[in-house]
Amino acid sequence: MSDTALCAAARAECLPATRRPRLGFAGVGWIGLNRLQAVAADGAADIVCITDLSVDAAREAARAVADRAPYTFVSDSFEDLLAEDLDGVVIATPSGLHAQQAMAALGRGLAVFCQKPLGRTAHEVAQTIEMAQARDRLLAVDFCYRTVAGVTQLVELAHSGALGEIFAADLVFHNAYGPDKPWFYDLRQSGGGCVMDLGIHLVDLLLLVLDYPCVAAVSSSLHAAGKRLARPAAGSPAAGLEDHAFAEVRFANGATARIACSWRLSAGRDAIIEAAFYGTRGAAVLRNVGGSFYDFTVEHCKGTARQTLASGPDDWGGRAVRSWARQLAMNAAFDSSATCLYDVATLIDAIYER
Ligand SMILES: NC(=O)c1ccc[n+]([C@@H]2O[C@H](COP(=O)([O-])OP(=O)(O)OC[C@H]3O[C@@H](n4cnc5c(N)ncnc54)[C@H](O)[C@@H]3O)[C@@H](O)[C@H]2O)c1
Repeated sequence: MSDTALCAAARAECLPATRRPRLGFAGVGWIGLNRLQAVAADGAADIVCITDLSVDAAREAARAVADRAPYTFVSDSFEDLLAEDLDGVVIATPSGLHAQQAMAALGRGLAVFCQKPLGRTAHEVAQTIEMAQARDRLLAVDFCYRTVAGVTQLVELAHSGALGEIFAADLVFHNAYGPDKPWFYDLRQSGGGCVMDLGIHLVDLLLLVLDYPCVAAVSSSLHAAGKRLARPAAGSPAAGLEDHAFAEVRFANGATARIACSWRLSAGRDAIIEAAFYGTRGAAVLRNVGGSFYDFTVEHCKGTARQTLASGPDDWGGRAVRSWARQLAMNAAFDSSATCLYDVATLIDAIYER
């Protein structure tokens, strides 16, 4: 057994076997496989079932975790997964399926950990949260940038008042590449372009750090291939898929935020990812290092001085799913923090002007 597997086994032994949740995984493409492996390495849950439209992908994923989960049931049908004796489901299918699959799982009394976005619209998100509340089941979304080292301290700085009144925020997520899977470019399956894909992480961080203030006004400009997209007619889907978005948000407390995100921008590096929060007594900034998608620094700034709160390599990708699985092991009940998912979805709707 490898060192990693030994550590995982030792950690798993700390949890009573009867409390270890039985999990099913729906969708084991790029991110689903990554999160499956994170759960397997952690050992806090039993991997019971893997389903993917491509049964070959499901089989391959089962092989990848066979040392930790040798008897995993594999299927190409989400219904088969729901028929298993499970405590929770991890959903990483194309975005357009999330709300429908999450509601089906919650409706059967299963807890859900879903990739972002939870739904394509605030309406879908509200329906899913209502189902989780009605069935009293844990619901969480993989807003994984919250778990980057230093972000917890950044949030504490903001919430403790150490930054003073936060009056401005600047958030960007520019990706020099675009998604490489066709479903991302089908509005029905993706729910949107770069705002739904990348901007949603910024909106989540913004509202988390500012502690969900009332939104007073939102203005936005969405572009596709350099052309401004027209505002959709009431009740209609968007006219096209944005690959660049800029939004300004004004909060009722007077604070303002600027959000920009894009696919295939000539960024001069793989990605530019930043979330800066400016207060009357200081600032806190999350920034990617050297264009990396994975390495970040978090700094606390005052005037020209800055203190590094975290930096360097940090294996943060699987942290949110691990923490959901551990929470599920303790208590499967609805956690009211999930209601914040609606605030994120509402602001996304406002950016899309719908
Ligand atoms: N949290 C993050 O930072 C993050 C990062 C990447 C992707 N995501 C989200 O994760 C989701 C998946 O993205 P991806 O890049 O892994 O996509 P992907 O295309 O690589 O994976 C999706 C998988 O779902 C499978 N699938 C399709 N329909 C299915 C169904 N009905 N039942 C079961 N499986 C089905 C596909 O065969 C595929 O293997 C998206 O919603 C995306 O927005 C989140």
